[in-house]
Amino acid sequence: MTKTTLTVIKADIGGFVGHSAIHPDLIVKAEEELQSSKDKGQIKDFRVLWVGDDMALVMTHDKGENSKEIHKLGWDTFVEGTKVAKKLKLYGAGQDLLSEGFSGNIKGMGPGCAEMEFEERTSEPFIVFLADKTSPGAWNFPAYKMFADPFNTPGLVIDENMHAGFEFDIMDVKNNKIITLKAPEESYKILAFIGAVETYVIKNIRRRGDKMPSATMSTDKLSLLAGKYIGKDDPAMIVRCQSGLPAVGEVTNPFAFPHLVPGWMRGSHTGPMMPCSFEDSNPSRFDGPPRVIGAGFQIAEGMLVGPRDMFNDPGFDNARQKANDIADYMRMHGPFEPHRLPPDQMEYTTLPKIQKEVKQRWMECSDGPSTKDLADQHAYQATKDDELE
Ligand code: 13P
Ligand code: 13P
Ligand code: MG
Ligand code: MG
Repeated sequence: MTKTTLTVIKADIGGFVGHSAIHPDLIVKAEEELQSSKDKGQIKDFRVLWVGDDMALVMTHDKGENSKEIHKLGWDTFVEGTKVAKKLKLYGAGQDLLSEGFSGNIKGMGPGCAEMEFEERTSEPFIVFLADKTSPGAWNFPAYKMFADPFNTPGLVIDENMHAGFEFDIMDVKNNKIITLKAPEESYKILAFIGAVETYVIKNIRRRGDKMPSATMSTDKLSLLAGKYIGKDDPAMIVRCQSGLPAVGEVTNPFAFPHLVPGWMRGSHTGPMMPCSFEDSNPSRFDGPPRVIGAGFQIAEGMLVGPRDMFNDPGFDNARQKANDIADYMRMHGPFEPHRLPPDQMEYTTLPKIQKEVKQRWMECSDGPSTKDLADQHAYQATKDDELE
């Protein structure tokens, strides 16, 4: 049986226009780079995909996970693409490349990475999901539905190969820890963690018993790496399907519900995740709503057959309509929570600068400042403002 590694590396190397989409010249450049690596035999096959302003390099090879050579290839491709983005003065050229040079593993350098090594089955269908204007925790809800909720996935009940359930590797991205919990018996524990999507994110899912790798997600948190907001961590997820794993339709079905995710405008708002076709994957309303595409593939001896545009299906029209209705409703809140994210999640935006600016003007109010104190403060501020003018 052929062992194949599937590596998806994604990054925002420049938006066109603003953060809404990607410029075609960047795709052309990336395809040139990867074609030359394929000609040299470094990789078996590749596709360049995108969602919104994020480019994803889907590559197959036989070098296993965390291959320095493959990660460097991804990094170098983004560096070359960034040169094109800079020439065109695209928005945020090189946005996700946080490091000056390649350090050996792309993880922790800005780009997101999801990869999986497996033995090709007789038929190997899988879906690469890519999202824009959100973060890795956005996969928690749909991934749980696919692999642990029998009301979504009848296969969990009627296919004996899935009866033992699945195990979930869950990362605590703030403390850099990982735990493995088992569904179905620990499903309440799993939900206790993964419901907190900004802290706990699913990293991998395996079938119990034979440990078959079933799904994997990118989990890189740009703000935690950079120490400030530079863009959201628009994530990727690979899900294998059929033959003892959830069927293709069981894997796509969770997206028929446009669940709320963090992200959207300035990475600071809650909004519905809208499943859309490749063609419609350009978020331009309030830089959103957050979007997901599904690129379906089969794989044959390492060669990619596809992609099929999985959400290009009228079956998802209601989800899109609902997402637009939810978007209208959420937008009506303007700068108020829960549309705007709570303060701990605004920590990496420009809000701390505003807090700093007014720091002196906060007064103790344990016994309550008098109206006079507040009036004095107001008068003092007015003098300051006059001085500034
Ligand atoms: P087919 O009978 O079309 O192969 O479909 C089987 C299945 O599992 C659909 O989810
Ligand atoms: P991206 O993370 O997709 O670059 O979006 C950033 C942003 O601020 C959108 O308003
Ligand atoms: Mg961007
Ligand atoms: Mg993006």
